[in-house]
Formats: sequence, structure tokens, C-alpha cells
Amino acid sequence: MNIVTDLVEWQSIRKNLKNTLGFIPTMGNLHEGHLSLCRRAKKENVHTVVSIFVNPTQFNQQQDFSTYPRTLEEDITHLKSCDIDYLFLPTDSDLYPDHYTLRVTEEAVSTQLEGEHRPGHFNGMLTVVLKLLNLTQATRAYFGEKDFQQLLLIQKMVAALFLPVEICACPTQRAPDGLALSSRNNRLNPQQREFAAHFPRLLQSSLSTQDIENQLQHLGFKVDYIADKWQRRLGAVWLDDIRLIDNIPEREQ
Ligand code: PAJ
Repeated sequence: MNIVTDLVEWQSIRKNLKNTLGFIPTMGNLHEGHLSLCRRAKKENVHTVVSIFVNPTQFNQQQDFSTYPRTLEEDITHLKSCDIDYLFLPTDSDLYPDHYTLRVTEEAVSTQLEGEHRPGHFNGMLTVVLKLLNLTQATRAYFGEKDFQQLLLIQKMVAALFLPVEICACPTQRAPDGLALSSRNNRLNPQQREFAAHFPRLLQSSLSTQDIENQLQHLGFKVDYIADKWQRRLGAVWLDDIRLIDNIPEREQ
């Protein structure tokens, strides 16, 4: 795997790549969820590139940004095991020469659900994804359904701005007890980790959104939202100071 830390070097590598390029943008601390995207990209493209960049503009709290797990050595081992060709590691100044004075905003989907609880999050996310898509000039880019609202917004941006890339949606990878894999799960202690499985279990039940919310609250979760939208059932909850999000297709209800 070629690890590219220099933006100009990446651009010259890209110029010489013929055939299809599959791109998987990440913030690192990779797990099976990320790796499922990598394996699919590998199958569908001649070349593959993964980026790792903990994007400061999409964090609501400085604390959450500074404590976000950074595990580069382990990430490299995982990516090599998937036979990824390039790992791109841009810096803050590479991606934000303008200091985020220029940004992408969306004013319909981005203000609902996650957006209501995390103001500015999706604009930061869209801005960095647009920059990364422009830099990689990928044929296909891979995103998880785990972050469904993010996926929806990226599809909207690609359509609205005529970006020449195919967005590939990949199913949510779960632990055997149903909990969606997430970098934030590492912060759960063993007791919280066991308890967290109530969240996907209730989301997948045939209860109404209100009953799910009541049951979660009764169990001790703090509920940001449980809602039916975009043919999905989506939810966000807190277990102490750890926030979990999940969603399932409508047909599973
Ligand atoms: P990150 O949280 O690292 O996720 C990178 C990609 O992996 C996203 O497309 C996400 O939906 C997908 N993913 C995470 N957990 C998954 C799971 N359990 N199953 C399937 N896919 C999963 O999402 C981001 O980074 C950032 O917002 C980013 C798009 C990189 C922009 O900064």
C-alpha cells in the first residue's frame, strides 16, 4: 500500500491512474464497517484509495474532536489486509487553505434529525466530502447506510452539483448482538456495551416510534429522536455521555 501524506504527490499519482478508482473516505479508527466498504470497492474497481482525515469542521464539540480515536498503525494493518492500493492522509492546511471561509450548505435535509441536534455538522461533512471527491476524482465513492442522513445528503450534493462520481451505498455492519459497529462503541465499558444492544433491538421491533422512545427512556437511555423518515426508521440515543445512532429500512419494521 502506498501511503501518501503530500497533497501534490497524490495529485500527480492520480494523473497517471488509468481505469476505475474506488474511494472510501473515513476518519480512521477502522472497524469491520469500514472494511466492508473497502472490500466492495476493491471488487468493483481497478484501483482503490482510502482517506483518513478527522475533519474538525464536522465536530460540534472541541472535546469530541480532540478525543476522537486516532489509531493509524492499526488502520494501516487493516487496509493492507484488504489490499487497498493508496492511503491518503491529508492535513488540515491541505484541505482548508481558506480556513473554512468557503463551505457547502444544504438547507432541507441537513437541518432535520441529526442536524437539529448537531448544528453545522452536515455542512462541515459536505464541505470535506466535496473537497475529497474533487481531489480523488474517483469513479465510485463508498458510504455506509449506518450514517443514513449523511449518505442522503451526499447523494443530494452529487446530483445538485453534477459531480462526476457514482455514490455506492453499503449496508450497516453489526455486532452479533445487533449493535451497529461504530468507532464510538470502543468508549462503552463492558456493562454499557451489553446494555447498548437494547437500542437496535427496540428499533427493529414492531413498536411505534413513541413506544420505542418510552421504552428506551424507561431503560435509562436519553433519546434525541426516534423517527420514521426517508423510508427508514432512524434513532439517536445517549448512554451516559456516549451518543449512538442507528437506522433500519422501513420494510424490516
Ligand atoms: P467515518 O465515521 O469514519 O465513516 C466512514 C464511512 O464508514 C462512512 O461512510 C460510514 O457510514 C461508514 N461506516 C461506519 N460504520 C459503519 C457500519 N457499521 N457499517 C457500514 N458502514 C459503516 O462518516 C465519516 O467517517 C465522515 O463523516 C466522512 C464521510 C469521512 C467525512 O468526514
